Amino acid sequence: MAGLIPEDILEDILSRVDIVEVISGYIPLKRAGRNLKACCPFHHEKTPSFMVSPDRQIYHCFGCGESGNAFKFLMRFERMEFPEAVEALGKKTGVILPRVDTYENKATGITTQLYKINELAADFYSNNLDSGEAGLKAKDYLLKRGMTQETISALKLGFASDKWDSLINYLRSKSISLNILEKAGLIINKEGGGYYDRFRNRIIFPIFEIKGRVLGFGARVLDESLPKYINSPETNVYTKGKNLYGLNLARDAIRDNDFVAVVEGYLDFILPFQEGLKSIVASLGTALTVEQARLLKRYTHNVVMVYDADSAGELAALRSLDIFIEEEIDVKVVSLPKGFDPDSFVRKNGIDSFKERIEKAQSLFDYKLGILKTRYNMKEIESKAKVSTLMLETINKFKNAVLKSEYIKKLAQELGLNEEALLEEIKKVKTNKPYQDTNVSLERKPLNINPTEKLLMSLMLEENSLINRIKESIEPADFEDERISKIVSIMFGLLEEGKEVRPHLLMHHLGDDISQVVCESVFMPQSLSLEHKERVVDDCVMRLKSKKVKSRREKLHQEIKAAQNLGDEEKLSRLLEEFHCLIKKKW
Ligand code: UTP
Ligand code: MN
Repeated sequence: MAGLIPEDILEDILSRVDIVEVISGYIPLKRAGRNLKACCPFHHEKTPSFMVSPDRQIYHCFGCGESGNAFKFLMRFERMEFPEAVEALGKKTGVILPRVDTYENKATGITTQLYKINELAADFYSNNLDSGEAGLKAKDYLLKRGMTQETISALKLGFASDKWDSLINYLRSKSISLNILEKAGLIINKEGGGYYDRFRNRIIFPIFEIKGRVLGFGARVLDESLPKYINSPETNVYTKGKNLYGLNLARDAIRDNDFVAVVEGYLDFILPFQEGLKSIVASLGTALTVEQARLLKRYTHNVVMVYDADSAGELAALRSLDIFIEEEIDVKVVSLPKGFDPDSFVRKNGIDSFKERIEKAQSLFDYKLGILKTRYNMKEIESKAKVSTLMLETINKFKNAVLKSEYIKKLAQELGLNEEALLEEIKKVKTNKPYQDTNVSLERKPLNINPTEKLLMSLMLEENSLINRIKESIEPADFEDERISKIVSIMFGLLEEGKEVRPHLLMHHLGDDISQVVCESVFMPQSLSLEHKERVVDDCVMRLKSKKVKSRREKLHQEIKAAQNLGDEEKLSRLLEEFHCLIKKKW
């Protein structure tokens, strides 16, 4: 897993970094005895089962099983690649990394290459805005739409010419292969062979991730032709619905203001942001996904959705807002007057007027009820029942029972209905299947580790001297659990090399599933004296051995029976001898 970075460097970084400091930079940790705990940032929960061990420099979630060392945390939380996580922590700890990669280096991970290529492409498109007639025309388009040069630079807006191969030629001159360009989604394979640029004669909007790396692109025509936008296809670094446009620029403001406005389009982000509303992101046309909601949740629990008048009434869009309730994010809604989107509204009425609208945003309850009331004839009993069902679907998503019952009370008042009846009805509301996060399996696969083996492993990790003691009496293969047997053999190997065996250092020798086993065992409560631990070890070793003998005995027993049946005398006597030897042993 470690790849190109020398192991001693990784160990050097890990021995200097404090995992508690790293993780508490992202989520608040509370003391819990020797360890610290928090609600897990990788799955939804209300009671903390995410544990961090300062002694062992490991985190582990007993809810979803996510676990690892400081590198792994950054990889998961910041979505970094391993080399990036190493680089980040190297910087933090002052450990100097040997220079390894340039892009196109075969050994470099594909994602690192794609980020680099996207960056080169973004630079290329951005330079196009300042050269040639077509480029200047594109620039003029942006300026006419109210963008300043500063904004154009900050967002690295660009232009793709109408030529079929200008990006190809540029990147080929940098020795970048067509194959990787295709993987980046920047070029398209022609049917008869050869390639052409995906984006032509369009304004280019690079889509950045939180740290400013380019994930992909959106590209708009300069006139009324269709399709209005072309977007990057899904690639190794870009997945639709997992990012929010502008978050890289807005994140500090979102955190500071503890609020975010969510709009739909590129321009709807750009104009308000430029004019001074800094806590804003764009969802890029998709209905909001649970991943996007969770991304926002890292920075604030207060979201205002801003809709154009034409998309405001869509029930599908409304329903997607239930995600916020499930994620326990407070969501409010603003819809703009007919014919306006945030971009045109701000240009016409100014940013203050836009901010005012946002301040007056309605709660999801009021907003949804308002829309339903315009759609249904509220004088008819059947319509009222239908509206109450639709409202109950949303109310049912509240996890907090107080909120749920207060909203039911409110709904009863608003519709002039009996509260008891609504309480009865909410029981019938289908609980839609939970929104799936493709990344995190919410259901935890139990690790099923044999307790004796687990205890032995955790003792070895705690006290390296015990590894020698164990090594004298058993072999890795004596562990029934293949994962532990693998871990133990690595521990033995490290010790032979004279290296320290600590859980956070072990990690990069192990795959994810196996390191999870290590992490979980780290949190077994133990505060025994060394002498006591030795006795426990001896006892565990004994138990493992006797178990092994027992199963060998059972196997022999079967074999003896078989040999008897077959009348294989020679085999029988050999087996019987082994059997008697085994029985003579004390255990
Ligand atoms: P809009 O059609 O509202 O466009 O689509 P817009 O952002 O207001 O752009 P202007 O003001 O006409 O220039 C909203 C968003 O939906 C996505 C884009 O992300 C766009 O910003 N979209 C729209 C597409 O991906 N493809 C399309 O063909 C249209
Ligand atoms: Mn628009």
